[in-house]
Amino acid sequence: MNDPQRIPDPHAGSGEASTELELQLSLEQVVDRKTQELEAERERLSKALEALHATQGQLVQAQKLESIGQLAAGIAHEINTPAQYVTDNVGFVRHASTLLLTLVDRLMPLLEAARSGGRQTELVAAADAALKRTKLDYLREQLPEALDQSLEGLGRIAKIVSAMKEFSHPSLGEKEPVELRELINTTVTVARNEWKYVATVDTAFDDALPPVPCLRDLIAQSLLNLIVNAAHAIGETLEKGRREQGRIVVSAKLVGDWAEIRVRDDGCGIPAGLQSRIFDPFFTTKPVGKGTGQGLAIVYSTVVDKHQGEIRCESEPGKGTTFVLRLPLHCDAEDCKPCR
Ligand SMILES: Nc1ncnc2c1ncn2[C@@H]1O[C@H](COP(=O)(O)OP(=O)(O)OP(=O)(O)O)[C@@H](O)[C@H]1O
Ligand SMILES: [Mg+2]
Repeated sequence: MNDPQRIPDPHAGSGEASTELELQLSLEQVVDRKTQELEAERERLSKALEALHATQGQLVQAQKLESIGQLAAGIAHEINTPAQYVTDNVGFVRHASTLLLTLVDRLMPLLEAARSGGRQTELVAAADAALKRTKLDYLREQLPEALDQSLEGLGRIAKIVSAMKEFSHPSLGEKEPVELRELINTTVTVARNEWKYVATVDTAFDDALPPVPCLRDLIAQSLLNLIVNAAHAIGETLEKGRREQGRIVVSAKLVGDWAEIRVRDDGCGIPAGLQSRIFDPFFTTKPVGKGTGQGLAIVYSTVVDKHQGEIRCESEPGKGTTFVLRLPLHCDAEDCKPCR
């Protein structure tokens, strides 16, 4: 007996196929919807990132203005001291010049009389009296000193003013080749009033270090933050009874393809448990009015995000702290003119 032949039913399985089709369609819709959602989310995140960058930029700007404001008081003081002794010295020189010109006035008639062979006795007495009043020996000693001091004072004022001008000059977001020796010296000068009561600052430079492509104002701002932190850390040890001044050393050298800057202090150090938090925005151990915890966050974003550099901190409580910054001497960034 033959098996009844199975005739293929064109409609057989059509229910399954349509379910599959529907499933596929609805899956596509889900994928479409999800893609749209992801796209919207991506856009939202990129806007948030943009806003974050803008806020970060504003924070850096705000901190820069704040520290310039803070420096301004110290700089006014730094300028005031030499300005005061220049004023005193110029007053002295003015008085001395009156005495000397009076003496010349008394000597002139004597000279005239000597020339014409006239009577000189009274004139000699008058000239003698003027000579006595003038205290020539004293003036001979004091005048050059007063002028030297004035020149030195004016030089100091010029140095501070030009350092301040350089420090506050904006880089307008463009990298340029910078001599770190100059930048460090400028920053140490403008910050003098922040460290001079607690420490001495020494610098050390490597002659082999070439100019470093960087945003000069942000690197100067970062150095300032590190120097002020070092001075605060030393200040804390002085408050706790250490009698001698501390020491801050700022150095720069060439290490392979990097410029390495070190800021070392012999201050209080950072407890091991806090070392991982010091770069966090708004982390501070200082009282209100002395710190807001932005300094190191700005140093980090400047060195790591804006310069593709590296930063690390070595600290031993009770001994001191060293911050080590490394800036690349060459980078691939398209917007870096010195490296293109
Ligand atoms: N050289 C240092 N020695 C000891 N502790 C330090 C040193 N540098 C930073 N710190 C610690 O890290 C914390 C964060 O430093 P950061 O510069 O970010 O903020 P701040 O100095 O507290 O405030 P701001 O810099 O905003 O005025 C400091 O409060 C301090 O506890
Ligand atoms: Mg600080």
